[in-house]
Amino acid sequence: MFSGRAWRLVGFGDPAEVIELQEMTWAEPSPGQVLIRVRTAGAGYPDVMMTAGQFPLLGDPPFGLGEEAAGEVVAVPPGSRFTVGEQITGITDFLEGWGGYAEYAYLREGSAIRIPAGMTDEQAGGFPIGFRTAYAGLVERAPVEAGQTLLVLGAAGSSGATALQLGKALGATVIAVAGSPQKLELCTRYGADHVLNHRTEDLTARIAEITGGRGVDLVYDPVGGDTAATAVRSIARNGRIALVGLASGAPLALDAMDLLLRNYTAVGVLAIPGGPEAEAAVWARLAELAGQGAITTPVGAVYDFQDVPRMIAEQTSPRAGKSVVRVASK
Ligand SMILES: NC(=O)c1ccc[n+]([C@@H]2O[C@H](COP(=O)([O-])OP(=O)(O)OC[C@H]3O[C@@H](n4cnc5c(N)ncnc54)[C@H](OP(=O)(O)O)[C@@H]3O)[C@@H](O)[C@H]2O)c1
Repeated sequence: MFSGRAWRLVGFGDPAEVIELQEMTWAEPSPGQVLIRVRTAGAGYPDVMMTAGQFPLLGDPPFGLGEEAAGEVVAVPPGSRFTVGEQITGITDFLEGWGGYAEYAYLREGSAIRIPAGMTDEQAGGFPIGFRTAYAGLVERAPVEAGQTLLVLGAAGSSGATALQLGKALGATVIAVAGSPQKLELCTRYGADHVLNHRTEDLTARIAEITGGRGVDLVYDPVGGDTAATAVRSIARNGRIALVGLASGAPLALDAMDLLLRNYTAVGVLAIPGGPEAEAAVWARLAELAGQGAITTPVGAVYDFQDVPRMIAEQTSPRAGKSVVRVASK
């Protein structure tokens, strides 16, 4: 049995009022789980959705927050492929109520990897969700091919900045859309071929200019709403839009007649594990790409453990890059 503190949601509403630091105990992990002592945990817009009661995969509180975490293995069930003392990162058992903003966290064994050499704690804690989602979008659900043009919305955010890097690693030309000069600079730093500011530029005109009027092969959309609706106008014939999320607060309103007349496809993307072998192959590929330096967690703001409620409140207008929480120093 392990004891420690965990940030837990006790109701829906203002993060300052509904997220509480509670004393908890963690029993030995069940088959399929690994228990870690957490050093870092990654944040994102899903935290906002969970706190507001808008996350479709979770019921009512109380439950722990934090979808991903990195740290040292402290307990494993019999037959685990991990051993006590290893440094790993992975997706937490948040759907079962156990989050990563805590001193200990259960990781799903099938969605965890040993931390590749050279990866910092902050990069490790913010690695799993963004890159697993990008893999689901750009490899499994709406495969992008070398030489194709990929438009990434929210490209300086958790999901977008990982998709832009994976898109580059897969050989695509990437047009990154973000909302400030600092965010565009981050996109350039992580490999975007073209950057567009959705607040100050005419996206349709600029994309037409960049693509010679042809449009883009694939839109990666973690944003939804009006920005996604604008991006849809720039999809080439036979192109696709990968529907990943709704950081704008609303999903894209699809127009079936437009899909029909312009011959494009809308693909839903939910990063859920396939079979154990397929899932292991996905994580091995992501670890390999990270080890090669082809993909890197785009770490942005790093918050102290005591600041989790403020950090979640700030995810409604996030700074550039992936926000990470430092839970313990060693
Ligand atoms: N399908 C899946 O499996 C999966 C997995 C993980 C996350 N998600 C979803 O993906 C979405 C994004 O999550 P995230 O963690 O990547 O969020 P994030 O880190 O907050 O990034 C979202 C980005 O969207 C941009 N944005 C917000 N409103 C916008 C608007 N109206 N127009 C254009 N850009 C806008 C923001 O940047 P600017 O300042 O540049 O506007 C921000 O950088 C969420 O809905 C989340 O639930 C889905």
